[in-house]
Amino acid sequence: MPDYIIAVDQGTSSSRAILYNRQLQPIASHNEELALSYPHSGWVEQDPEAIWQSVLNCIQQLMRQNEIKATQVAALALTNQRETTLLWDKATGKALYPAIVWQDRRTADQCVELKQSHEAILRQKTGLLADPYFSATKLQWMLDQQADIRRRAGAGELCFGTIDCFLLWRLTAGKVHATEASNASRTLLFNIHQQQWDPELLSLFNIPAALLPQVCDSAAELGITMPDLFGHPIPILSILGDQQAALLGQACIEPGMLKSTYGTGCFAVVNTGKQVLNSQHQLLSTVAWRIKGECTYALEGSIFMAGATVQWLRDKLGIIRQASDTETLAKKVSYQQSELLIPAFTGLGAPHWQPKAQAALFGLTRNSGREEICAAALRSVAYQTQDLLQAMRKDGIELSDIRVDGGMTTNQWFLQALADLTQTKVLSSKQPDATAFGTAFLAAYQLGWYPQLSAINTLRQKPTQFTPELSPHQQAICYQNWCQTINKLLA
Ligand code: G3P
Repeated sequence: MPDYIIAVDQGTSSSRAILYNRQLQPIASHNEELALSYPHSGWVEQDPEAIWQSVLNCIQQLMRQNEIKATQVAALALTNQRETTLLWDKATGKALYPAIVWQDRRTADQCVELKQSHEAILRQKTGLLADPYFSATKLQWMLDQQADIRRRAGAGELCFGTIDCFLLWRLTAGKVHATEASNASRTLLFNIHQQQWDPELLSLFNIPAALLPQVCDSAAELGITMPDLFGHPIPILSILGDQQAALLGQACIEPGMLKSTYGTGCFAVVNTGKQVLNSQHQLLSTVAWRIKGECTYALEGSIFMAGATVQWLRDKLGIIRQASDTETLAKKVSYQQSELLIPAFTGLGAPHWQPKAQAALFGLTRNSGREEICAAALRSVAYQTQDLLQAMRKDGIELSDIRVDGGMTTNQWFLQALADLTQTKVLSSKQPDATAFGTAFLAAYQLGWYPQLSAINTLRQKPTQFTPELSPHQQAICYQNWCQTINKLLA
């Protein structure tokens, strides 16, 4: 009897495959880092073939190293970086352009105009707003580069897809051109109320309907892998955007439950149940998951730079060798230090939505060194989280704690700073791969191993708790300084 699930987490910085047993314990994993390229100011791209190869290698290596045969694998479960846009040839499967990554700002000017003319309709239909973050303007840019591409798109010769859709296509050797509702809800083309591609938005962005994938439930018989890939076909039974997968993986299955994931970016997502909550404070409404045709919705705050800020310290400034160095260095600095980093390296996301903002380091003195810059980088992630929590609270969400996960949550100094600077209890998951766990659980649900979503509560380990140690008065002084500095940058 097949007793394993393989979950694939295709993220911005890496791809990873994790092997789970029937109790959904992680048995083994295989990880491959992925490169990003920045060919022009504001552009962020990835090689579609490198993405595909990394996913294939991760699954194949995981199976080989653990002597697992495809016949022992009951399901493949996918989760992925969202919004990243691909366009490929239906006949050959080859991508026409590098993938335009969610952080890419090349369509910022167009979005400034869109904000004036169509923000209300975009918000009302998609729950999103006019920003280059989402897929629609990226796809429009691809189609507008050559008349022949637009002609071929209209003739049904090309396929558009986010990463999930591209992987599903490749895993099934072009048999399935489909996505699922949580990923579709990030494109700016999908009506989250009617659960369909919206004809008015397709015409606004000049996107031919022939390009679009079918939108499926998040748990379903989504496809079967080609036998030659893994030696035997494996059914693909779940797909979720990575932040929605983490929401499920953190067992945020009731309205009001919130998780925040610190990967490349940081995404705070709160379950709003069967209701779409229309934010009055610049947050996004989005699909959490769709099961048996029924949607659960969420409210999301998206920050573009979290772990990516630490990567910048390592790869561009060269002041740390590895991410964990930030913890040792930041410990030496107090919260009252003058240095403040506004990490608008790819513009600012929620709640500011300023695609053209650029990063800046304020408050430097003769004493400013690597310790102060590392601490400022980590605190910038905590302050941005506080921006999101404030917006959520103003939208009427009552929050008692934040369930956190992702690479940065191995940094204990950061977690305490997060509790201090948000004045909120932080519950750190002992399962750092909440994202993969979420989609693996959904596949197990689809298999009938766990017939109720509530079973996820029994599978989670007890988290580690961080409570605020900074006084509310001190926090208010620090946070006010952050707000004033951001306002200075944006003025
Ligand atoms: O919306 C972008 C998000 O899905 C990227 O996630 O894990 O690469 O930070 P991550």
